[in-house]
Amino acid sequence: MKRAFLAIAAAHLCATSLGAQAATATRGAFGALSDGTKVEAVTLTSSAGVSAKIMTLGATLQSLIVPDKAGHKDDVVLGYDTAQDYLTRPDYFGASVGRYANRIAKGKFSIDGKAFTLAANDGPNSLHGGKLGFDKRMWKIDSVSSGADAKVVMSYVSADGEEGFPGEMKVTATYSLNDQNELKLEYRATTSKPTVLNLTNHSYFNLSGNDTRDVMGNMVTLHAARFTPVDATLIPTGERRAVAGTVFDFATPHRVGDRIRDAKDQQIKFGRGYDHNFIVDGAAGSLRPAAVVQDPVSGRTMEMSVTAPGIQFYTGNFLDGTYFGKGNRAYRQGDAICLEPGVFPDSPNHADFPTSRLNPGQSYVNTIVYKFSAK
Ligand code: GLA
Repeated sequence: MKRAFLAIAAAHLCATSLGAQAATATRGAFGALSDGTKVEAVTLTSSAGVSAKIMTLGATLQSLIVPDKAGHKDDVVLGYDTAQDYLTRPDYFGASVGRYANRIAKGKFSIDGKAFTLAANDGPNSLHGGKLGFDKRMWKIDSVSSGADAKVVMSYVSADGEEGFPGEMKVTATYSLNDQNELKLEYRATTSKPTVLNLTNHSYFNLSGNDTRDVMGNMVTLHAARFTPVDATLIPTGERRAVAGTVFDFATPHRVGDRIRDAKDQQIKFGRGYDHNFIVDGAAGSLRPAAVVQDPVSGRTMEMSVTAPGIQFYTGNFLDGTYFGKGNRAYRQGDAICLEPGVFPDSPNHADFPTSRLNPGQSYVNTIVYKFSAK
């Protein structure tokens, strides 16, 4: 009798604590654009103190609150306080980028002998999906749920020919957060015609929280033995170069700032710092460790695992103090680290790069896991 009671009590306790530990998702308004379009946001909160807000404009990670080693919670991603600012002063802050994240040389590619031309919006090249890429589109909220994973699914349908790309494309972005402080992001897509794509998230991380310091003192590890060098317009030359013995070697942790001014390396000159695609070690398609960012002052660490073949490591080199972000802070060069997992830049024009092609009947998946901790 007594034993049965104890078992029931234990089961009850367990259920209660499980219930208390579940991650939660809440949906709410996030203001409106200047044309009146309403923007919504979903906030995912883990019982371990991380909370991610995703807004429908651009399926954008608008804020990401992470505790430091003392338990203080701060926002670790750059962005704006209002949705309209993301359109007025756009720079892909936290955005879901598509159809083709990163560059396509001269905005030109062909599929099965048919030529396509995109807008040149970055010097001679096409960047991040063109003038009105996925970051500037309104996404729909398909579902919101709490539980072991708090989750939101957002979707966008891109019309055949939008921004010059062939095929109607149906895209989803699923963000989920668990109590181990893992934020998982999964992009999926299908198409009605053969096309090319590269979907990624363009968060600017500053683990100091509220950007109190730049990222030059952050320690970065990149699980990448090779990277793809670029020309002066940041288009890959086609070479896959070993990082060993160069300023691109992050196989063991290095301070971002230690070698970023080493202009003896022409690649650093071209990028104005780091703005390069690293080839992630291991088999693309399987989730494997790609990067670790550690801020020694706050103690915050972010570990990223990806399924993509590459990851663009960008140190906010174009932030020039004219972007006034959250809390009216000026964002300046070196204020953030972007790590954008995807296929390599300009893949449609490099037959020997991992393919960016998607055919009707195929499903595209790009999975990114960001795990946060502090010590
Ligand atoms: C990417 C590019 C950079 C820059 C930013 C957006 O990371 O590689 O060169 O265009 O996006 O400013």
